[in-house]
Amino acid sequence: MTLEAIRTVGVLGAGTMGNGIAHVFARSGYNVILRDVETRFLERAIETIAKNLDREIKKGKLDTAGKTTALGHVHATTEFSEIARADFVVEAVPERLELKQSVLREADKLLRSEVILASNTSSISITALAAATSRPDRFIGMHFMNPVPVMALVEVIRALQTSDATFQTTMALCERLEKKPVAVNDAPGFVSNRVLMPMINEAAFAVMEGVATAEAVDAVMKLGMNHPMGPLELADFIGLDVCVDILDVLYTGFGDSKYRACPLLRKMVAAGWLGRKSGRGFYTYA
Ligand SMILES: NC(=O)c1ccc[n+]([C@@H]2O[C@H](COP(=O)([O-])OP(=O)(O)OC[C@H]3O[C@@H](n4cnc5c(N)ncnc54)[C@H](O)[C@@H]3O)[C@@H](O)[C@H]2O)c1
Repeated sequence: MTLEAIRTVGVLGAGTMGNGIAHVFARSGYNVILRDVETRFLERAIETIAKNLDREIKKGKLDTAGKTTALGHVHATTEFSEIARADFVVEAVPERLELKQSVLREADKLLRSEVILASNTSSISITALAAATSRPDRFIGMHFMNPVPVMALVEVIRALQTSDATFQTTMALCERLEKKPVAVNDAPGFVSNRVLMPMINEAAFAVMEGVATAEAVDAVMKLGMNHPMGPLELADFIGLDVCVDILDVLYTGFGDSKYRACPLLRKMVAAGWLGRKSGRGFYTYA
């Protein structure tokens, strides 16, 4: 599929990432078919997109007519068969291998043979997901960052099987979305989480060992290393459960004890202190 032939994009999953992905495609003039399993998830996604478009209006990046146009580009549905019309599909369902494999197999059956299928997974092997479909050469990783409308990066991950044509179309599509694609090969944690998670983990070890408080660790990294957010503040934002899951993927994938999740992180997850989403992590949230 060439870039010019892509008009309609299917997005599978309308959660945190799916609504953001739908937002950026719609803002760039693509028709979006946004699919989730229940109407209430789709309603919540459309509300979120509308709210985030309002933010862009406040920042002077968009006018009200632009908002109406963008929202008009998004067609929300619970009917999986509707994605048969898509010219490109991004999967953003929860991070569970069997669920992703089953959703991708179903999508694979519905889509025209030339359509590229992309996954937004943070940690599952793109090569393994590609192998679950009948189009492994037209399969690729498109790792958007949260919040999608704000963050510039898309980590574009080539599976072992990804063709050059699929790779080039996907890179060019990211540019159309005014994102900055960075190409990497498939390996546990890709580049983003392979580099980020050990830093977060080490920050948690420093707190557990009483080297410094969470505030002090974050202050060192913000003031000394020019990070916009400290690693523990960022861990709270990502979700401590998600951090532990990704560390486990690195640990298993590489068989290397340097990726062993910090016991403090596991203990906090066991306590239900998951970060921002639960109201408490390394910090407390109102
Ligand atoms: N949240 C992040 O910061 C982040 C960042 C980068 C990548 N990711 C990845 O993006 C993916 C989605 O994460 P999220 O945070 O948006 O999750 P989420 O739980 O917020 O959203 C997932 C959505 O998928 C829907 N869903 C479940 N089964 C489905 C199916 N069969 N068909 C269609 N929709 C279905 C759920 O109802 C839910 O609305 C995961 O692979 C995750 O690893 C997340």
